[in-house]
Amino acid sequence: MDKTGTIRLEKENFEFPIIEGTEGERALDTRTLRSKTGCITFDEGYGNTGSCLSDITFIDGENGILRHRGYPIEELAANSSFLETAMLAIYGELPHKSCLNAFRQHVRRNASIHTGMHSHFDGFPSSAHPMAILSSMLNSLGAYYPGMSTNNREQDLAHFDETAALLISKVRTIAAMTYRMKMGMPFVYPADMSYTGNFLHMMFSEPYRQYVDDHGAAKALDLFLMLHADHEQNCSTSTVRMVASGGANLFASVSAGVCALWGPSHGGANMAVIQMLEEIHAAGDDGSRFIEAAKKGEAKLMGFGHRVYKNYDPRARILGKSAESVLESVGIKDPLLDIARKLEQAALEDDYFVSRKLYPNVDFYSGIILKAIGIPVEMFTVMFAIGRMPGWIANWKEIAENPKSRIHRPRQIYTGKTLREYVPIDKR
Ligand code: CMC
Repeated sequence: MDKTGTIRLEKENFEFPIIEGTEGERALDTRTLRSKTGCITFDEGYGNTGSCLSDITFIDGENGILRHRGYPIEELAANSSFLETAMLAIYGELPHKSCLNAFRQHVRRNASIHTGMHSHFDGFPSSAHPMAILSSMLNSLGAYYPGMSTNNREQDLAHFDETAALLISKVRTIAAMTYRMKMGMPFVYPADMSYTGNFLHMMFSEPYRQYVDDHGAAKALDLFLMLHADHEQNCSTSTVRMVASGGANLFASVSAGVCALWGPSHGGANMAVIQMLEEIHAAGDDGSRFIEAAKKGEAKLMGFGHRVYKNYDPRARILGKSAESVLESVGIKDPLLDIARKLEQAALEDDYFVSRKLYPNVDFYSGIILKAIGIPVEMFTVMFAIGRMPGWIANWKEIAENPKSRIHRPRQIYTGKTLREYVPIDKR
């Protein structure tokens, strides 16, 4: 017999099925709760709500485990590449050589954007935040591919492979063009290069001087992007699924994902970490004063804590090591890394952080790597968005391909005024 669980409400028992995931995670299926009992569940912030069934990514936050389609992140980091991991997340399997090469070619061929879009950049002030530009541009991109952004699932799915490769490619071009526009520099067109090599070229080459990657920046960036490729139902991915659930096309859905990623509690944390480390450094603090302020609730240790990880985020462990080797190969000694290490050590020993299970997350070391590569701080969250694109695409596909998927429409507990009579304006 299938497993069930019982909810007792005002002396009456109600039975609900228990759903079990392949890794043993269990959920009480309360979809019929309201119709059976008149009650709904209340879970502000969704800390305890399974919003979907998904085959893409598994996280065991208690034990610091992250796997994409069953493959541990540590193995992917050691052996895979961003584009291969993107294919794994999107299509479910590690690709054969010929498929990966075909995907790479597809991405390469789609690197430039329609010249009509170049003029869109002129409409933004140079003070515009790159995330605002990125989100607008990704949505505008749909307008240039009307056949791929019909909001008719069958039609949009018929073009899915093309759209996925196109978005993974063009998000990087738009990011680089955003930076160039803000700096008042001419756009650099994509070249026949690797994914990250091409990005660095479009960011930093000049008409009179080709960017030379002599410190392994493209490799470090590839690892950074791969480690951001997917992370199950985080704020931005849930947003993508929410938008997709209404039938919206992939361009519109990922554009919404960029907006959700922007905030400092989510992707914006990678900018906030560097700003925090710089402030600590400028104040002549070794980190200990900041830790005390965080414990008193006067500051937040950015890059620390996670809704799901109650252990060390495995991505932070990999990025911490990568930060050291990047700094070594670039030949700089960044005092911010020393401060980060001190903060980490203090936090891992301090009861405030230990009792709340607050550990470094993916954003804690990533900024040090990006900074060493020469990416400006304002672009950090855009870099996160480039990395997260495969995860957003994979989650959109999961919704679009599921004939049973329903529009996401949570309920609420209304706490406002009860019925009142309209008061004419001269009597208020
Ligand atoms: N510094 C100091 N105290 C913290 C921190 C922190 N970074 N994070 C959580 N706490 C405290 C929090 O004040 C609360 O204390 P108390 O129980 O005394 O009220 C306790 O720890 C539990 O925190 P919470 O706010 O209930 O946790 P949450 O799951 O709602 O929030 C979080 C998770 C990631 C938003 C939060 O930890 C945070 O704001 N961290 C800093 C921002 C950050 O690094 N964000 C990136 C997250 S990982 C990548 C991503 O998703 O993009």
